Amino acid sequence: MESIASFLIQMDLFAGLDEATIQQIASQFKVIQFQEEETVFAEKDEGDAFYIVIDGELSILQETGRGLRELKKIGRHEIFGEMALISQERRSATVRTVTDARCLRMSRLNFNDLIETEPKFSQRMLTFLTNRLRHSDELANKEILNAHQALIFSLSNLVESRDKLTGDHLHRVREYCSLLASNLARHPKFQTIITPVFIENIYIVSPLHDIGKVAIPDGILLKPGKLTRDEFEIIKQHSIIGGESIARVLEFCDNETFRMAFNIVRHHHERYDGHGYPDGLKGEAIPVEARIVSIADYYDAILSKRSYKQPFTYKQAEEEIRSQSGIIFDPVIAEAMLSSLDDFESIHQKYT
Ligand SMILES: [Fe+2]
Repeated sequence: MESIASFLIQMDLFAGLDEATIQQIASQFKVIQFQEEETVFAEKDEGDAFYIVIDGELSILQETGRGLRELKKIGRHEIFGEMALISQERRSATVRTVTDARCLRMSRLNFNDLIETEPKFSQRMLTFLTNRLRHSDELANKEILNAHQALIFSLSNLVESRDKLTGDHLHRVREYCSLLASNLARHPKFQTIITPVFIENIYIVSPLHDIGKVAIPDGILLKPGKLTRDEFEIIKQHSIIGGESIARVLEFCDNETFRMAFNIVRHHHERYDGHGYPDGLKGEAIPVEARIVSIADYYDAILSKRSYKQPFTYKQAEEEIRSQSGIIFDPVIAEAMLSSLDDFESIHQKYT
């Protein structure tokens, strides 16, 4: 059987340490045997030791309020439990074996001794912990980003559910936008503007485009027939009201994502010929993200059934987009859509 020292030396944390140091470290560990489905320690326990897996598989679990959720599985040579040891806080997760397992365990007392007496080990431990912290930060950021996206989408859905549009309208719009943006990224006119971040952002925030409709009275928003001129004037307010609400978000969180959200929400009804609303912007003065959402939203609207109109066929939709190119829509963006209509039709079918 391999000695503790020869097991440790295979790990980055201990590699290259001199023989005396590694022997000194090895002597501070105890081998502990666990059976399948045994709890090594539980969340909120006192952090009195850290562990290294020799063999077997273990699971790191966290309490969610609705039971335990697995964060990850760990195996040979992986370290766990060191954070609570250092911070002196209680365990932030539960560790349970999946299979029979053996681990090395070092108590707080021995660990503190080593840190004091073995400067090379403390230095290594410091680097290891810094890397581990950086990694957990990245994971946390990813989690926040996912929650952020989910929140934006569910907020947007609130408006849609009231509008009685098919629930998948927003799914389709964001898919159309992301596809269009990806196609346009290769076009010389847009290649410096439409970056991978732009494509990711338009996917996230395009569902917000009609968020201002929350402020439109039911009698107008849900009216089955054609709107009067006055009613239409009220509907038009949704881009201003929505823009104002995003502008308030920007006061607290001024970043690229929300600046794009503002441009989309305020300007998705501008027209290329300058006859749109609310600002009558013309041509290139309309932010490109708003030009993309405009055509995606329009395409989806004409393909949808409303109480006052039948849906267009794909052929009719194609003709409509072509005839409005350069009038409502940026001709380059319209052309990008027309040249890959099969993909747009696939998205339409997938989410309908
Ligand atoms: Fe709108």
